[in-house]
Amino acid sequence: MKTLLIVWHSMTGGSAQMAQAAAEGARAEADVTVRLLGAPQAGPQDMLSADGYLFATPENLASMAGMMKDFFDRCYYPGLDRIEGRPYAAMVCAGSDGSGAARQIERICTGWRLKAVAPALIVCTHAQTPEAILAPKLIPPEELARCRELGEALASGLALGVY
Ligand SMILES: Cc1cc2nc3c(=O)[nH]c(=O)nc-3n(C[C@H](O)[C@H](O)[C@H](O)COP(=O)(O)O)c2cc1C
Repeated sequence: MKTLLIVWHSMTGGSAQMAQAAAEGARAEADVTVRLLGAPQAGPQDMLSADGYLFATPENLASMAGMMKDFFDRCYYPGLDRIEGRPYAAMVCAGSDGSGAARQIERICTGWRLKAVAPALIVCTHAQTPEAILAPKLIPPEELARCRELGEALASGLALGVY
């Protein structure tokens, strides 16, 4: 039985909904165990014991969220040379951009020698004002469907051993 680890952080709920949707999609694959962990709860042992990864983060100040960065900081060296070749994908919830966070995750995963199975999935909430940015987010169904599909594809690939 393969394990897919989904690590997420969210301040206003968008990334949380995206991670949840991806987990639902992945759970459609009966032969894969899906672990959905908040970034503060996830650590090196979770990385080592999983076969594939999905990372979901907000973009804050053109970077991934600090809590997500903390997760990578804690896991990077314990995982180095021990997880190479495993598949991963990233999801970013952003106001209007998302590319900075996606690029950072890509660089970290390149360092780990993970294999990207899809381009980063970026969902923009189009929040522009401080009030809108700080308000709870409701990700539209069509965007959640993309997250669900990504989770399902990653899990199917793991189950089939295609990566
Ligand atoms: C401190 C802060 C900085 C932000 N910086 C960016 C940014 O650089 N680029 C962007 O597209 N969105 C930015 N946003 C908007 C968030 O990415 C957006 O609100 C998104 O929904 C956050 O995801 P979450 O709902 O999972 O917390 C920022 C939000 C906050 C609170």
